[in-house]
Amino acid sequence: MPGAGISSEALLDKLGRPVRDLRISVTDRCNFRCVYCMPKEVFGPGYQFLKMKSLLSYEEMERLARIFAGLGVTKLRLTGGEPLVRRHIERLIRMLAGIPDLDLALTTNGSLLTDKAQPLADAGLKRITISLDSLDDDVFKAMNDAEFPVYKVLAGIDAAAAAGLDPIKINMVVKRGLNEASILPMARYFQGTGQVVRFIEYMDVGNANGWRMDDVVTSAEIVAMIDAELPLEPVEPNYPGEVANRWRYRDGSGEIGVISSVSQPFCGTCTRARLSSEGRLYTCLFATQGHDLRGYLRTGKTDEEVAEVIRGIWRQRADRYSEIRSSHTVGGLPKLPKVEMSHIGG
Ligand code: GTP
Ligand code: 5AD
Ligand code: SF4
Ligand code: SF4
Repeated sequence: MPGAGISSEALLDKLGRPVRDLRISVTDRCNFRCVYCMPKEVFGPGYQFLKMKSLLSYEEMERLARIFAGLGVTKLRLTGGEPLVRRHIERLIRMLAGIPDLDLALTTNGSLLTDKAQPLADAGLKRITISLDSLDDDVFKAMNDAEFPVYKVLAGIDAAAAAGLDPIKINMVVKRGLNEASILPMARYFQGTGQVVRFIEYMDVGNANGWRMDDVVTSAEIVAMIDAELPLEPVEPNYPGEVANRWRYRDGSGEIGVISSVSQPFCGTCTRARLSSEGRLYTCLFATQGHDLRGYLRTGKTDEEVAEVIRGIWRQRADRYSEIRSSHTVGGLPKLPKVEMSHIGG
């Protein structure tokens, strides 16, 4: 039984939202330096990453996952940083795959997938989301800032398909002036493959990326651009509160998604909790502070005691940052430092 003995009865936050999704960042490290996430000026050689002993162990992650499942979580996503740089990640997958009725997913930059796709599938992973911001090497390298070539990510995507991971979703963050010209080639490349590209509005997460509203290409622009060449029609969501809006090609050759967190925020249906790799619980992607759960795990608390702490945090939750973004900024700058995306994952 997931989280056996833990009552999930009516755990709602202040805006009536249950906790349904847990996203666990397994490491704050990454082998890319994407300009919108871990720009080199901030995440350069002097940057202090977390020490191994401060990271949650796989056993601690599994324990928390079971407790959250007992509180109503039905979807668990592993993120980072880059989750595949943490050693033996397939061991964690095997442990989590043993939790019943849990949709287990993972978001990766794809750089290590040619070797890891099969072990991940063998360990019980069913589906995967791979980030890819362009098919043009110069543009992609300008975005990942790690000289990483496109062909290796494409090989990783092929390895994921060969290992039977399904569905495969491809996340592309669009930043104006950098990769708008890659939108159509990406749509064309994945059309008819069954793999779904999701175009993501560039967000003001963290403090490092120097976000400006002018850099955002809205989903409406993206859909119009694709529709002009490859006619589209809207599709109903797969489930209530789905983050991506779905569109399908009118000729039946597949679908795309757009994630409009800036132009059309979806806080009203946000059921996501995020756990950093050092075991801090964040109730919003834009939170300034997390709640230390690791301390409770390491001081001998029972599952029910930890669950009660989480209930207390969730009941106090009133986050809706994306809906009230402007009140958080003064002169375009955030009032309080926000947690970095690489600490709590996408
Ligand atoms: P599926 O389970 O496959 O439907 O995944 P998903 O739609 O939850 O998408 P995924 O986890 O791949 O998230 C895609 C992107 O959407 C993230 O990288 C973020 O950019 C954005 N996103 C996801 N969740 C949130 C959220 O809670 N708030 C905001 N503002 N953006 C989010
Ligand atoms: N805006 C939007 N999405 C972002 N991601 C990271 N930084 C940003 C940002 N500033 C998301 C992307 C990427 C995933 C790992 O995190 O979806 O694919
Ligand atoms: Fe790494 Fe993903 Fe952030 Fe890029 S977006 S720096 S791949 S964690
Ligand atoms: Fe959820 Fe915060 Fe994103 Fe709104 S901004 S959808 S509350 S994580």
